[in-house]
Amino acid sequence: MFIVLEGIDGSGKTTQAARLGEWLSGLLGRERVLVTKEPGGWLGGDAVRRLALGGGLSSVWGEFFLFMMDRCEHVSGVVMPALEKGMCVICDRYTPSTLAYQVLSNPLIGSEAAEYMTGMSEVIGLPRPDCACLLDIDADTARRRLETRGKLNSFDARGRDYFERVRAAYDALIKRFPDEWIKVDASEDENTVFGGLKRGMERMFGTRLGGHAT
Ligand code: TYD
Repeated sequence: MFIVLEGIDGSGKTTQAARLGEWLSGLLGRERVLVTKEPGGWLGGDAVRRLALGGGLSSVWGEFFLFMMDRCEHVSGVVMPALEKGMCVICDRYTPSTLAYQVLSNPLIGSEAAEYMTGMSEVIGLPRPDCACLLDIDADTARRRLETRGKLNSFDARGRDYFERVRAAYDALIKRFPDEWIKVDASEDENTVFGGLKRGMERMFGTRLGGHAT
């Protein structure tokens, strides 16, 4: 199983990815679950992460290819080996992040670029997630959370309108591929959000969760 968590900055993905990992480890066995992340979830990925988040890139296509490069290394070194062993992989961000943050949210890039990227991902052999979960939250609430945590990166300086466009881009992806997506209201407290995520997983995977999901 390949599960991807998505959402704008401050949506709580990292916390929920860890909780999902714990829950699935309880159902499937700890050795059968891997929680990983993009950008930077591979050996050598820290340097790419620093470059991507440091704010030094001037071209959106530079950003695009850097995230794609990071993904290629992450997939070949971490994700594929785990999937080939039959493990369940939970990935904090994946191709939908690039589609939402670099492509669909950018008014200067036509939507045909999304088709191009999807085609390119297939040619490269990037595995398609079995399920993508959107932790949905409005840009103002997410921003308040990030400020409270004091955890801002260069993307966070892009402001409210950018993040509302990213959120709308996620919605467009859900409309296009409704069978592959779960959407959870992420503005609630951590336990309530996790409850929604669990219910979504149970609906999506049913007996594949070991037949004893609760
Ligand atoms: P993330 O690791 O989720 O942030 P955090 O520091 O909270 O753990 O993501 C880092 C940033 O990278 C986030 O602002 C979104 C951005 N990003 C893209 O713009 N495109 C991508 O393809 C990916 C994977 C991330």
